[in-house]
Amino acid sequence: MALTEWTDRLRIPAIAAPMTDVSGPDLVAEACCAGVVGAFPSHNAASSSELERWLAEINERRAHVGTGTQAAPVAVNLVVHPTNSRLDSDLRAVLSGGVEVVITSVGSPRSIVGPLHDAGVTVLADVASIHHARRAIDAGVDGVVLLTAGAGGQTGWANAFAFTRAARDEFDGMVVLAGGVSDGAGILAARVLGADLAYLGTRFIATTESLAPAAYRAGVVAASLDDVATTTQVTGLAANVLSEWLRGVDPAMGGGHDSEAGFSVDRLLSQRGVWAAGHSVSGTDRVLPVAELVALLDRELREARSRLLAAAFTQVEND
Ligand SMILES: Cc1cc2nc3c(=O)[nH]c(=O)nc-3n(C[C@H](O)[C@H](O)[C@H](O)COP(=O)(O)O)c2cc1C
Repeated sequence: MALTEWTDRLRIPAIAAPMTDVSGPDLVAEACCAGVVGAFPSHNAASSSELERWLAEINERRAHVGTGTQAAPVAVNLVVHPTNSRLDSDLRAVLSGGVEVVITSVGSPRSIVGPLHDAGVTVLADVASIHHARRAIDAGVDGVVLLTAGAGGQTGWANAFAFTRAARDEFDGMVVLAGGVSDGAGILAARVLGADLAYLGTRFIATTESLAPAAYRAGVVAASLDDVATTTQVTGLAANVLSEWLRGVDPAMGGGHDSEAGFSVDRLLSQRGVWAAGHSVSGTDRVLPVAELVALLDRELREARSRLLAAAFTQVEND
């Protein structure tokens, strides 16, 4: 396990993943207070000044977590693509806003690793291929978030088993597994494979505190993984969405394939109201408050660990 000062403060080894139009101050503050890293994309705040206000509000609520406990970190997702005109001002807000973890996406994190490290911020980069993982590791990140097949929103295509083993083979920093994790058994499985943390997006759409409209949350709860479709129509990058939503989309929105070439931050921001979700809709059966969801994941993780230990003892007795 790649240890940091903040991993010791987690109740379970998990990050509530950043989600466009879903993660706001309420979801993030509740996640941090419940004991998982609470993350949101900086572009969910309408401006860098609003981002500063959101961080102040989240930190105020994190400071009031129960006595004797320290809240888990808040993480901000920064899109590092060259078309992000807010990157410099959002970075300044992050540096002054008590943020302990930054998660970069869509591009090389190289330009921001230095200032973030100088301020003691952990830098994770989300990556969908070994090529991108190497680019991030060369840039000096502390960890990689592996986007695997079935992840909600911008997705990867790699198999989770193969990708985690491959990343672990070449990197002893922090490895975070994203895609298809909806319960405690999935979190334990990620750890068994060699990941340090699991990254859960879709499961947190169906929380009371998420910014998702009620019909979208209900769609996530009702859907099975057969109802998830991969499309490049949203941002130009491959993304997983509810097929129910995709049927209502103008095909003229069509984008490119498989590279960052068709992506721009303006395009991302013009596509608000997308019902993104991944294969873990199959494990999402109800809307819960964030604190209850984290407590449930904790219970499931303990039960999965006990089942694994019982199976291991039976194996030893049979040998
Ligand atoms: C609705 C939605 C919006 C997302 N928006 C972002 C985003 O703005 N930035 C980002 O880095 N990842 C985004 N993602 C990806 C998640 O951070 C995460 O990688 C993914 O949800 C993990 O897979 P899971 O949904 O199977 O748990 C989004 C995912 C969803 C479902």
